[in-house]
Amino acid sequence: MTEPLPRFLVFEGIDGSGTTTQCRLIAERLRARGHRVVETREPSPGAVGRLTRELLADDPERPRSVDPACLALLFAADRLEHLRREILPALDDGQIVLCDRYVVSSWVYQSLDCDPQWVRAINREARWPDLTFVFDLPAEVGLARVASRRAQTDEAVERFDLPATQRRLAAGYAEVLARGPSEGLRDLVRVDASASIEAVGEAIFAELLRRGL
Ligand code: TMP
Repeated sequence: MTEPLPRFLVFEGIDGSGTTTQCRLIAERLRARGHRVVETREPSPGAVGRLTRELLADDPERPRSVDPACLALLFAADRLEHLRREILPALDDGQIVLCDRYVVSSWVYQSLDCDPQWVRAINREARWPDLTFVFDLPAEVGLARVASRRAQTDEAVERFDLPATQRRLAAGYAEVLARGPSEGLRDLVRVDASASIEAVGEAIFAELLRRGL
């Protein structure tokens, strides 16, 4: 029996790891092969996602102290609404969905301040993706990339921007990759995100071609 084509694709990694850039580039390449593609992200553009982003735009040195459990619930609530409103209809319509961040972001980021088992529990209703690309990158490299991006744009500082936090997040993603197989997590694909944009794109695209897209 042949494997069904992977159509719900997720990009995960620390800030500066390149998930947003690759989401865009891979979408273009898939469209060039004739696929119909939806590009989306979380927090989503919907009402709960917008509220979540507003609460995230905090100076990490002077946070407005949004309760971390409240934030975790908002990410999870946004996800279910995002699925219902955008992701599931697109999949039902036969399209490919590329999502910049999803459940694993909540596991890694919200487990900094909340009980990891509880974070998993509140995300249990979210459909598991067909493929999750986990961008593996040392925190220092991600921090340097974000700093140079900030120097060129007016992008806001966010709650998770401290170097110590980014190091914990990088370790969190590495742990998901290391433990994934033993936990029965399906279809996690490690991406070496320290390579060039072109090389990372090639690696991801090769994996998609290998899986029949
Ligand atoms: P972005 O930088 O990819 O736009 O994401 C915004 C921030 O939200 C980023 O620092 C990661 C964080 N985040 C979480 O903490 N939990 C989540 O579930 C998601 C989707 C994002």
